[in-house]
Formats: sequence, structure tokens, C-alpha cells
Amino acid sequence: MKKNFLSTLKTPFFYYIESYGCHMNTSDTEIIISILSKNGFLLTNNLKKAHIILLNTCAIRKKAELSIEKRLDNLRYLKSNNQKIPLFGILGCLSKSEKYSNLIDFSIGPNSYRKIPDIIRLVMMNDEKKIKIHFYYLIIKMKHMKILVPIHNKKKITTFLSITRGCDNMCTFCIVPFTRGRERSSSPYSIIKECENLYEKGYKEVTLLGQNVDSYLWFGGGLKKKIKIDNSNEKIIDFSRLLDLLASKIPFMRIRFSTSNPHDMSDRVIEVISKHSNICKHIHLPVQSGSNKILKLMNRKYTIEKYLSLIQKIRSIVPECSISHDIITGFCNEEEEDHLETISLMNKVKYDYGYMFSYSPRPGTYAYKKLKDNVPENVKKRRLKEIIDLQRIHSIFRMKKYLGTIQEVLIEGKSKKNNQDWYGRNTQNIVVVFPKKLSKIGETVFVKITNCTSATLIGKIDDNENK
Ligand code: SAH
Ligand code: F3S
Repeated sequence: MKKNFLSTLKTPFFYYIESYGCHMNTSDTEIIISILSKNGFLLTNNLKKAHIILLNTCAIRKKAELSIEKRLDNLRYLKSNNQKIPLFGILGCLSKSEKYSNLIDFSIGPNSYRKIPDIIRLVMMNDEKKIKIHFYYLIIKMKHMKILVPIHNKKKITTFLSITRGCDNMCTFCIVPFTRGRERSSSPYSIIKECENLYEKGYKEVTLLGQNVDSYLWFGGGLKKKIKIDNSNEKIIDFSRLLDLLASKIPFMRIRFSTSNPHDMSDRVIEVISKHSNICKHIHLPVQSGSNKILKLMNRKYTIEKYLSLIQKIRSIVPECSISHDIITGFCNEEEEDHLETISLMNKVKYDYGYMFSYSPRPGTYAYKKLKDNVPENVKKRRLKEIIDLQRIHSIFRMKKYLGTIQEVLIEGKSKKNNQDWYGRNTQNIVVVFPKKLSKIGETVFVKITNCTSATLIGKIDDNENK
């Protein structure tokens, strides 16, 4: 009998994985690790020991793509002489890319992670030098799915959990609907069960993730099939109800969520945030632009007037809530007056913090195909710098309000700058750094704020409050 390649290798197989991009990718990487470990593959941090090298990639902006290309170039030496091992696998949103096809043995898109072990075995068993399996983009017809569970890590106390996958919003600049497919929501049973499980395992905080988390919707398979939760038969569970259920079922676990598209955020969600002390008081509310003309070109489905009234609602119902943003500068047809409208919006809201990007056209999107990328690079850069500088001023303004106050902080780990300090976050998602004293990771402590930078609060444990 012909010996296949797999049988010539010594098991177990070691794999090495790197993760790029957003929180969802970080969480997906933990899901992949969970799937591979259940199938007998072993994780290694040592590149040279690995039989399989996996890069979980991001395609959201050109810059992300370039950094992965650079990394692949750096890793190329590991596969000299056209040898079969290590196998190179590209996972995630760049799996469709044909670049580097001479180095890559297989690529698997974000909707096919359950198939990873089978695909690796298939590639290994093939006696050819290499085969290519592009399992990238399944159009999933089902509206709901069982949740994919990330690996549980004993050292961690905070984690992410994706409750929706894909996105139906079709913002014209965004590649996500093309790389991750149609939006689907996980069953509330599997979400609640996994969160309870996380709490039992020692996690103290979970962040519910979705590209557009507020549009979470479960309708339990039609009218006949109702959902039995807490003695009530519910036919439909939307995001506000899910939050409400979770917050009551795991009252000592902090709950965060991201990302909220302003178009989909309901009043009920804001009310549920105010009702439960364990739902953190922070909303990430990407606006993308302060100009209605640009929002329309982006297909964002809200106006600045609506956005501002949403902010007002949040601040009146949950006054202590922090608000962060994403903004893109230099989108197609953005003129100076549109940019000034973005600046004016920022001045009105005075966000706590934000993520700012200069527009990069992504192949396949509406903007790439139909609109002109007509803002010169130097203008994009200048506008980006202006909004980053302005955000810094607003962040400092917000941070100064914490001076002298006492903040409840969940300790997450050692501060990067000083081994003797902890870092953690308050409910508003602001990082707080303070000397350790006798406290431990995973504890919630009260910290008196004595100083700040534009991104960090600095303080010391308040002995009176912690008694
Ligand atoms: N689902 C989120 C966004 C996910 S992508 C939402 O509702 O807004 C994260 C951020 O990347 C976006 O908010 C946007 O600011 C930025 N981004 C996405 N595509 C981009 C592109 N082509 N160029 C520059 N920035 C982009
Ligand atoms: Fe992208 Fe818009 Fe969805 S930014 S992820 S298409 S909400």
C-alpha cells in the first residue's frame, strides 16, 4: 500500500498561530485554538517547532493587508527548498487573496473554522507537494447558529464572545459583508450557557461582539417554537432582551458589548444598560463622518441630527456613560466643509476616546467600484492629524473629570510600564493604573484617581473604600 505523507510524520502535530485585526479576530483565534486542541493538535509558541503556521488575517484597511504581506515575507525562510512542512494556512478575511499563493498551502475563510482540522488533515495526507483548498466564503442561508466557543484560558479574567457573525449593513466603504457574509445571530440558550460557564471558570468580564451587535435577533424557528426562558414562553429575543437576561443571570460578571451601529441602537438597550449595575457604562458608537452628505455616500442610514439625539438620550438615561467613536477621513468626495462638519460634531460630543482612520478603498465594495477615491493622500493625512489632535484635547478634558474621584476597577494584569503596578478598567472602559498593594488579578478594587494622561488614569487603592 502506498504510504501517504501523514503517516511519515511523527504525531502530535504542532501549530503556531498569529492573530491580526479586530476583537472579533482575537476571539476567532481562541475559537480556532479550541477547535484544534479538541482535535489533537498542539499549540506552540516556537515557530521552528511548528508543523503548521496559521495567520488569522484582517482585510479591513489596506494597511492591515500590507502588514500581513510583510509578515509572510519574513516567514518565507521557514519553507526553503519547497519542502512541505511547515504548512502555511491563511485564515480570516484575507483568505480570498491570491497573493502569496506560492507560499500558502491552504486558506480558510471566517465562516468555515469548524472545518479547519479536516482541511489540515486533507492537505497533509495529499502526496503532492502541496494542494490548495480555498474554503473561503460560504453564503450561509441559516439565520441562526450555535455559538462557537473560544478556548478557556485559566490566566485570563476577561474575554470576548461573538454573538452575531457577518453584517447586512453594506456600508459602502466596508469589506466585512464580503469577507464574513450575511448576518446571523447565535441562540440565546448557547450564549447564556457559555456566559454562565465562563463565570464558573473564573472569568469576571465578557464582551459580547458583533459587527453590528444591536441588530442581534433570535426568533426561535417560527411562531410554533417558542423559547422557554424563566417560565415564560418568548417568541423573539432582541439585543435589549438578551442583555437583560444575561445581566440578571450572571449578576457578578461585568458585561460589555461592541459594536453599536447608531442606526440599530434602540431606546430599550439604553434603558437596560441603566437598569443593571453589571452592564458597563460605555458605548462604542462609530459615527464615521460629521457630514450628512458623506454619511449618505457611506450608506450609514442615519443623519447627524439623529445621531446627536441618540447621544442626548444616552446621556440623559445613563449620565455616567462614556462614548467612543470610529471616524474615517478623506472618504470619496469629502470636501473641506464636510471635514469641518466632522470637527464640529466632535466638538459637540467631546468623545471620551476614538479610533480614526484615513480612507482606503477595499476591492469589491460599492465605494471601490462606483465612487472616486478623489481626496489626495496629503489632504487625507492632514485631516486625519487634525481630528486625532482634537480627540486628544477632548480625551484630556474627559479624563480630568475623574481627578479626585474614586473608581471601581477590575484588576486585569501587570502594568506594561511598571511591574509594581496593576492595570485594570473602570466601567467606562478607561484604563486605570495603580500600585498593587495586597490586591490580586480578578479582584475589583476602589482606586482614588490622582493623575491622568490622555488615555490612562493613575491612582492608588483607597483603603477606606476597600474595607
Ligand atoms: N461594525 C462597525 C465597524 C467595523 S470596521 C460599525 O458599525 O461601524 C471598524 C472600523 O474600521 C470602522 O468603523 C471604520 O471606521 C473603519 N473602516 C472600515 N473600512 C474602512 C476603509 N475602507 N477605510 C478606512 N477605514 C475603514
Ligand atoms: Fe462594516 Fe458597516 Fe457592517 S462598517 S461591519 S458594513 S455596519
